[in-house]
Amino acid sequence: MKSLINGLQDITPGDYETSWSSPSNIAFVKYWGKKGHQLPANPSLSLTLNDCKTTTSVKFSLLDELDVSLNFDGNNDDKFAAKIKNYLLTLQTDLPWIHRLGVEIKTSNTFPHGAGIASSASGLSAFALCLADYIKHLTHGNDQDNFLKKASFLSRLASGSACRSIYGGFTTWGESELLDSSDYYATPLSVHPELVNLCDSILVINSQEKNVSSRAGHGQMGAHTFAEARYTQARDHFNLCVSALKHGDIEAVGKILEAEAFSLHAMMLTSPNPYTLLKPNSLAAIEILHDFRNETGLPVYFTLDAGPNLHLIYPESFKNKVLTFIGHELSSLCENIIYDRNGEGPVKCY
Ligand code: PMV
Repeated sequence: MKSLINGLQDITPGDYETSWSSPSNIAFVKYWGKKGHQLPANPSLSLTLNDCKTTTSVKFSLLDELDVSLNFDGNNDDKFAAKIKNYLLTLQTDLPWIHRLGVEIKTSNTFPHGAGIASSASGLSAFALCLADYIKHLTHGNDQDNFLKKASFLSRLASGSACRSIYGGFTTWGESELLDSSDYYATPLSVHPELVNLCDSILVINSQEKNVSSRAGHGQMGAHTFAEARYTQARDHFNLCVSALKHGDIEAVGKILEAEAFSLHAMMLTSPNPYTLLKPNSLAAIEILHDFRNETGLPVYFTLDAGPNLHLIYPESFKNKVLTFIGHELSSLCENIIYDRNGEGPVKCY
């Protein structure tokens, strides 16, 4: 596929300031394993959150050489600045003028670092939206659909899962049987009205920074004995999950949600250099949740990101009962609980 940011080589950069707020997302069908340059080995599907988000403002200016500074929650963060600089350098073939940019970033999250919420998805999509906005300003573009597609394309190059945060509600990424599906950018997915409003209560079992990064985890899939079987399973889960979401079948969605969580962590446990990110309390919470569901029949299901923290997913109509259950039976296993839900996607602040 052609790059979505080609034909921009001859632009003259100028001064511009913009700010975007962008949410995190939780994958129902996981992206775990890459091919080519930041392309997914299987299609994935996620729910964009509402409250867990990053707000980023960027001042672009013309300098003699690329210079990136980054302030995170009031403190300069050189490590994060270097990450953004490296990302911008990966775009230099399409955007050679990137070498003459001053990029001054101020960013903050609504959720604590290490809370089991993908801060790379919200953080890097918020930055990519600022960059896409800058390109739109320089090219005097006004095609909103194309703008979001480009922002998703630019987000993907920074962090795969970030490309799904560009749209609200459910989003898919990766080639599939769906119309307009692509490995290069994400696409919004419409679902049954009964499954539009879902809650995500995040049980923060352990907030310490994980000792194996997602990048290293993806990398291990290259030599993983079960890689091909996993990609086949993920494709099957993807098709089943899309169909269940469209038919409003929460039980079928929940079954896939939990199978995907176990499968993601099974990949870690069986990778060439095996590891686990689960903690004893992660397993204890899963057992308590399963007992509760067996006793009450309520449609509340868990999933996991690459970490020990559980995301409990359930329709909004069951919120009061689930919150009582969490308060009585699960809160003692957690450091903290974050109550989130489906959201409408990124917003331009100015
Ligand atoms: O986007 P990355 O490279 O941080 O990978 C994220 C992978 C998972 O969060 C574990 C799954 C997913 O699809 O979001």
